[in-house]
Amino acid sequence: MKIGVVGSGYVGLVAGACFAELGHDVVLVDSDDRKLAALRNGTCPIHEQFIPELLERHRGKRLDFTGDLDACVRHSRLIFIAVGTPPKEDGDADLSYVESVAKDIAGAVDDYKVVVEKSTVPVYTNGWIRRIMLSNGASPELFDVASNPEFLREGSAVADFLYPNRIVVGADSDRSAGLLQEAYKPLTDGSYSRRSDAIPGPVTPPFRARLIRTSAQSAELIKHASNAFLAMKISFINAVASLCEAVGADVEQVCEGLGSDSRIGQRFLRPGIGYGGSCFPKDLLAFRTVVRENGCQFGLLDEVVKVNEEQRRRFLCKVKRALGSLAGKKLAVLGLAFKNGTDDIRESPAIAVVRELLREGCQITAYDPAAMERAAEAFPAGEIALAPDPYEAMAGADACLVLTEWEDFAALDLARVKDRLRCPIVVDGRNLFDPAKMEAAGLNYYSIGRADVAGGPREVPLSATMERTLRDVATGNGRQPLSPFQKS
Ligand code: UDX
Repeated sequence: MKIGVVGSGYVGLVAGACFAELGHDVVLVDSDDRKLAALRNGTCPIHEQFIPELLERHRGKRLDFTGDLDACVRHSRLIFIAVGTPPKEDGDADLSYVESVAKDIAGAVDDYKVVVEKSTVPVYTNGWIRRIMLSNGASPELFDVASNPEFLREGSAVADFLYPNRIVVGADSDRSAGLLQEAYKPLTDGSYSRRSDAIPGPVTPPFRARLIRTSAQSAELIKHASNAFLAMKISFINAVASLCEAVGADVEQVCEGLGSDSRIGQRFLRPGIGYGGSCFPKDLLAFRTVVRENGCQFGLLDEVVKVNEEQRRRFLCKVKRALGSLAGKKLAVLGLAFKNGTDDIRESPAIAVVRELLREGCQITAYDPAAMERAAEAFPAGEIALAPDPYEAMAGADACLVLTEWEDFAALDLARVKDRLRCPIVVDGRNLFDPAKMEAAGLNYYSIGRADVAGGPREVPLSATMERTLRDVATGNGRQPLSPFQKS
């Protein structure tokens, strides 16, 4: 099938490359010439497993890149809109890119097309795109608008596309639904998973994906409700973690007991410094706006956002408690990406925590396995130092903070960690370590929803100024502090 994908961001690039992998003839459109040139050369603009392989397999054969939207429309039967829908100031999704693409598509329609929303959009968008296309001259019999939301996670996006939990096709006409069903046939009939060159997935072949046909509105709502539900699970366990700290329970034990109920499940119950990324924060805000604009009450969503913000503040208090004070402290930060397996730092809780620590006067040396380049762009004036590996970041630091759940960090050599740090303090915002092992290694260990562990000396480290003052007092150098009982 001839497929066009508008927008070569995360969703567009993954969808385009995967449709080519399924045997379709794909044209990917973008307005960014530099990105197009990079893609044509086989350079992958994102850190995503299997995308380089898929580009290598299909680039210049079943996967082409262009800046010409009209040509893409003429080429394609299905046109997926995968442009950005960033949040506006009031939280509502900014649909101006979707609008301009819809206008351009309308001007180029010459034969029956299905325009498919792939970007996450509010529940009314389908009808709105239809109206834009009609008012820009597209004949009603020459197109349908459908919704086919993407549920991919960064880091496992290709496997999520090729081995999905479900494919949602929100289409109000049988003709458009039929074409979308055909596009996904290699996934729904299991033939893709049986191919000898198939990208490996989390399940044993044959794998047949479930396709759910809904109305366009229901499909739009499924996407927002799914992300809100997952964010709710994270905020729920983070709130429970705070209670665990207050009553002396262990959140990891609570998670095991709670998540073993098959109705609840273990996944998305990992406590931490809150959710981030390009989807959850934005989609929660947009979903709240949709609820408000339609006169409904859904205060639970407000609480999910509030707990998430509170979680970062609580983490900073924990760091302050571990260190006594923050000003002048030298800190090693492990992890800047919003989660493991990606170089993406958009809405990263780690970056938010680092910014707050800088405001408090800390000196930061950071390391991330993938996000160093993006971090350098986020701190262009060199506000933080970047180290080539975790042990370098820790050299002489007053404490080590773990902010992203990279597996590599869990495998650190604890003896070396203790050796590199000036003070043996680790504050873990992702519960990557076993407290007993940290204690045995002589480290003072603070994590989320679990008791603090004192493996090393309990005194809090002093700032450089305080240490200098103490030295001066001990050696009789400089001005001696005056006792309030002495007469000056
Ligand atoms: C998410 C959805 O999972 C995906 O279905 C949707 O299409 C896009 O948004 P993504 O943003 O890639 O995907 O990341 P995800 O793995 O969901 O993690 C989101 C955030 O939640 C990260 O900051 C992560 O660290 C955090 N998280 C996740 C937790 O804090 N605890 C958990 O248990 C799970």
